[in-house]
Amino acid sequence: MVKTIGIILNGATGRICSTQHLENSLIPMRENKDLLVNGEIVIPDLLLLGRNEKKLSEIANKFQITNWTTDLNSALANENYPIFFDAASTHLRLNLLKNAIDAGKHIYTEKPLAPSVEEGKTLLQTVSSKNLKHGVVEDKLFVPGLRKMNHLIKEDFFGRIVNFNLTFGWWVFDGSSQKSQRPSWNYKKSGGGGLLFDMYPHWRYVIEGLLGPIKRVVSANWTAQPKRIDEEEITYKVDVEDSSATILELDSGAFGTIQSSWATRVRVEDLFTLQIDGTEGSGYSTLRNCWTQRASSTPRITGFNLGGDKTTLEFKTNYLKDWEEVPEIAPYKNPYRFGWESFIEHVLTDSPFISNFSAGIRDIELSEACLKSGSTSSWISMT
Ligand SMILES: NC(=O)c1ccc[n+]([C@@H]2O[C@H](COP(=O)([O-])OP(=O)(O)OC[C@H]3O[C@@H](n4cnc5c(N)ncnc54)[C@H](O)[C@@H]3O)[C@@H](O)[C@H]2O)c1
Repeated sequence: MVKTIGIILNGATGRICSTQHLENSLIPMRENKDLLVNGEIVIPDLLLLGRNEKKLSEIANKFQITNWTTDLNSALANENYPIFFDAASTHLRLNLLKNAIDAGKHIYTEKPLAPSVEEGKTLLQTVSSKNLKHGVVEDKLFVPGLRKMNHLIKEDFFGRIVNFNLTFGWWVFDGSSQKSQRPSWNYKKSGGGGLLFDMYPHWRYVIEGLLGPIKRVVSANWTAQPKRIDEEEITYKVDVEDSSATILELDSGAFGTIQSSWATRVRVEDLFTLQIDGTEGSGYSTLRNCWTQRASSTPRITGFNLGGDKTTLEFKTNYLKDWEEVPEIAPYKNPYRFGWESFIEHVLTDSPFISNFSAGIRDIELSEACLKSGSTSSWISMT
C-alpha cells in the first residue's frame, strides 16, 4: 500500500530548505519510496511556497514538483496539504506560524521557533488548543559524530562526566574582500539574526540531549566584524553578536564551555567539535567522526614538554596517538531526514515526537539566557 502526505514547504528556494530538506531528505523519500509507517509506504506530496516565481519554478523543475505558488492564503486553504513547514527567514516565522495554525495545519519548523520564549509559549498554547501536531527541526544530534557520542553515553563509557567543551565556527567574510557566505539578515536584529538565536538553539538540544539539564549559564557575546556588505553591495552596521563564549553548569554537577564564532579560522578537524571528559574516559566528536581515550590508556603527563638539552626534535609529543576511533555504528542517514520521518509518523499515527514546540521553546531559552547574561554580566538560571 502507498499513501501520500501533503506538505507545504515555505521558503523553498532558501539555502537550507532547497538543500537539506528538499534535496537530501524529502526528494529521496519520494524517489526511493523508503518511508514505511505502519507497513505502508508514505510519499511526500510537496507544495512549494515562496516569493519569487522564477526561483520557485526553477526549484520545482529541478525536483520535478508540479505544485508551487507565491500565494500564501491559497496554500493555507488547500486541504490536500495538512502539514506546513517553514524554513524562510527567521523574522517572518512567528506570523507565518500563527496563520498556518489558524488554518488548521500541523506545523514543522526550522529553528528558532519564535523571537522570544514568551512568544514561543503563546504559539504552543494556540497549537495545542487546536489539537494540531507541532515540531521544530533539531538535526544536529543525528550527525554521525554525535550519534556515536550518544552511543558512548548510553553505554556508560564515561563514568561520571566532569567537563565538556563545544567549539564551533569559521570565518564569514564581511563582503569587502570576498562576498559573505551567509545572508545579511543573519547579522541584523530586524532580520532575526545573531549567533545566539541562530546557533544556540542547536547547542541547547545537543547538550541537554546528551548530558542532561542545564542549570545555569554565564556568557560573553561580542561583535567581531561590526561592518558588513550585503547582497546589494550596501555597507551596513552589524547590530547583533557574531561571537560568543559561554560557561554552563549542568544539574549533574558537570561544567562545560561553548565557544562559537563566525570570525575564527578553522585549525581543528571540523567546524564543530565536542569533547566530553569523564572519570572512566573521554570522547571527542566532530560532525562526522568520534574518538575515545579510556582511563587505562590515558598518558601520564607530568608537565609541559619544552624540549631537553639534547635536541629540539624532542619538543613535540603526539597526544593524539592514545585516542581510538569509534567505528561506524549505523549506516549513514541524512540528519534532517530523522526529523522528517519522525514528524510524518507522528502526524499519521500519534507516535511520540521529541522535538516538539516545548523543546523548541527550551532551545530559545538558552539563547535568551546567554543574551541576558551578556548584558547583565551575571549567571542566569535555566531551571
Ligand atoms: N537546522 C539548521 O541547521 C539550519 C541551518 C541554516 C538555517 N536554518 C534556519 O532556516 C531558516 C532559513 O535560513 P537559510 O540560511 O536557508 O536562509 P536563506 O536566506 O537562504 O533562505 C530564506 C528563505 O526565505 C525566503 N524569504 C525571505 N524573505 C521572505 C519574505 N518576506 N516572504 C517569503 N519568503 C521570504 C527567501 O526567499 C529564502 O527562500 C532560518 O530560520 C534559519 O535559522 C537552520
